[in-house]
Amino acid sequence: MPKLEVNVDHVATVRQARLIDEPDPVTAAALAELAGADGIIVHLREDRRHIQDRDLILLRRTVKSRLNLEMAATEEMLNIAREVKPDLVTLVPEKREELTTEGGLEVAGNLMFLRDYIHKLKEGDLEVSLFVDPVARQIDAAKDAGAGWVELHTGTYAEAQSEDEAQKLFEELLLSARHARSLGLRVKCGHGLNYRNIKRFQGHPEFEEFSIGHAIIARAVLVGLERAVREMVELIGG
Ligand code: PXP
Repeated sequence: MPKLEVNVDHVATVRQARLIDEPDPVTAAALAELAGADGIIVHLREDRRHIQDRDLILLRRTVKSRLNLEMAATEEMLNIAREVKPDLVTLVPEKREELTTEGGLEVAGNLMFLRDYIHKLKEGDLEVSLFVDPVARQIDAAKDAGAGWVELHTGTYAEAQSEDEAQKLFEELLLSARHARSLGLRVKCGHGLNYRNIKRFQGHPEFEEFSIGHAIIARAVLVGLERAVREMVELIGG
């Protein structure tokens, strides 16, 4: 059965809008788990615009499913990951000026650096996933760099302007997932997935896990987090 990991960054976005202590992403993570989430994701950004160090530490102590830490491949984050020990580290590109992660990681062009960085994470007993565009060049490089997982970037698919375009982009994702699996990589996908565009993924076991944040938290504001998570769990067939 495909799994759902819920990204609670935007619970922290609402909190940081007032720089107070609610809503708490740690409470949100517990509720998401009770509603059926198979994992919790947070992106600790260099600028700490939403998730704070305190959140990560408390989540490590309270998450009962799996904790997936998204982060940039920096020295600071390497130290944090090795200390906190999430169940999975997902390396993503990060720019200060972006609203959200914009593209996949340039793995092929930074192979030596990433091989060394991933080696250091693995020395700390950490499993590593790389967030990549759904193209063979980056997937092959992820394998070469020593990652165990790839997370295929679904942002372009999510932004398709027509059903035909969405179908074509979905088929590219499917081929990429099959290619990654043929190399022995495990496959997740995420970015921009919502209650409508997730439907194409139904019945495709090539995608093991889905990483979804904004759509779930946006719905939760209106219908409650438990219902929002349950509805997504049902859609992905979890
Ligand atoms: N996967 C990665 C690597 C991301 O950076 C993000 C956004 O933080 C997501 C998944 C979730 O995207 P969304 O919030 O659009 O569901």
